[in-house]
Amino acid sequence: MKCIILLGYMCAGKTTVGKALGSALGRTFYDLDWYIEERFHKRVPQIFADEGEAHFRDLERRMLHEVAEFENIVLSCGGGTPCFFDNMDYMNSVAETFYLKASAETLGRHVAMSRGERPLLKGKSPEELRTFISEQLEERTPFYGKAQHIIDINVLDTFEKINDIVKIIINETKG
Ligand code: S3P
Repeated sequence: MKCIILLGYMCAGKTTVGKALGSALGRTFYDLDWYIEERFHKRVPQIFADEGEAHFRDLERRMLHEVAEFENIVLSCGGGTPCFFDNMDYMNSVAETFYLKASAETLGRHVAMSRGERPLLKGKSPEELRTFISEQLEERTPFYGKAQHIIDINVLDTFEKINDIVKIIINETKG
């Protein structure tokens, strides 16, 4: 069975939903950032700091090609993955793609709840974050919108809400 790929903006809930979806379907879950970190023995923020974003995007594209062809897995990609090279068309050709679509407001709330370090969001005041998220979300939406399925996400602050999204995805998946 084809890989299922979850995509969407940072903090949309790709990893949280992906883990729950993987266990519900009995599929192994992969997170593209974690895969890159294990392959290169370096954290993503460190790759950005040492080698720059362009280098990270190149690794990201290469690792996407490595993982997306695994069968029977759930993969959550990075927020920027669909927006570089021909990554979005590639994902649509080898996998079943789901865009977890959240408003800038929901994303802002998830960012405030999240613990992960994200180089693109680092060091911004709440006001700067709000502006950055809504502007970047607008730029990225045409890429995300090419996904085969679009799933609306509200604030994911309970297990019930996460499981509701998992059920919606399972209903829509072709398997
Ligand atoms: C990025 C998102 C991050 C990570 C990197 C860049 C982006 O992944 O790949 O920090 O450009 O949106 P998450 O969406 O999992 O946070």
